Amino acid sequence: MSEPYVLNRLENGVLHLTINREDKLNALNRDVLAQLREAFDEAAHTPEVRCVVLSGAGQRAFAAGADIAEIRALAQEEVQPFAQHGHHLMSEIEGLGKPVIAAINGYALGGGCELALACTLRIAATTAQIGLPEVSLGLIPGYGGTQRLSRLLGPGRALHMMLTGRPIPAAQALEWGLLTEVTEPDQLLAAAGKLAGQLAASAPLAMQAIMAAVHQGADLGLARGLDLEQQYFARVCESADMREGTQAFLEKRKPAFKGC
Ligand code: COA
Repeated sequence: MSEPYVLNRLENGVLHLTINREDKLNALNRDVLAQLREAFDEAAHTPEVRCVVLSGAGQRAFAAGADIAEIRALAQEEVQPFAQHGHHLMSEIEGLGKPVIAAINGYALGGGCELALACTLRIAATTAQIGLPEVSLGLIPGYGGTQRLSRLLGPGRALHMMLTGRPIPAAQALEWGLLTEVTEPDQLLAAAGKLAGQLAASAPLAMQAIMAAVHQGADLGLARGLDLEQQYFARVCESADMREGTQAFLEKRKPAFKGC
């Protein structure tokens, strides 16, 4: 039985997950990855979970990367499964169908940065440092960073970050659009909780459709992307939540969404 590397707490529709390997700056070893996969798998299948907040234990790191000691020890035939394991987790988070907020409380480097990139939204403490330093180890990002960072920031800024390997501070990440909010360190979890609370009260099927349209549309031309939007629009229009949301507006009350 391995250590409890992922702590979880469900409160008012928000699942708070904490990577709990503080002595190694929450570096993502095999057990951490496996426990994160289990936690997100359960979140996917638990209707009470409407939104997830992911953070790192302690004050210093969200996650300082994949575990370098583990990478160093990989035999050639283990490399591909190792990368796949990480990719599966990132894809599962991205395709969860529920918003995931990365609350970046310090270093988000390498695999830690890639984990944050797979999340739906990213907010951070002023002290956060975010980067893909793999090149300084003679490596490249292996959990989706080359693809997700360049889609988010454009190839120029993404290449700058990956080729220099230099992390950027929170203020710059906010300016570049990697983050949507920066707070004082002691306010981060409260800010993440507040945002998550708003999302947890929102219409689950509509949020799911928005995320799917954005992610799937990113790989399509505009015309096909617009078709996709129409399909999701039609699907959401059939939901009870759409009737509830529009009725609540007309009755000047708050909607109570049920996710159906
Ligand atoms: N993998 C494995 N262990 C890691 C780690 C990683 N990615 N990042 C940090 N650690 C461990 C350190 O080895 C150290 O363990 P120890 O106390 O048993 O020696 C502990 O976490 C604390 O890290 P330390 O380096 O002593 O802290 P620091 O304040 O001097 O430096 C960093 C902080 C983040 C700058 C530095 O830890 C670092 O560069 N980490 C690697 C970042 C990286 O390259 N990530 C991409 C990996 S592919």
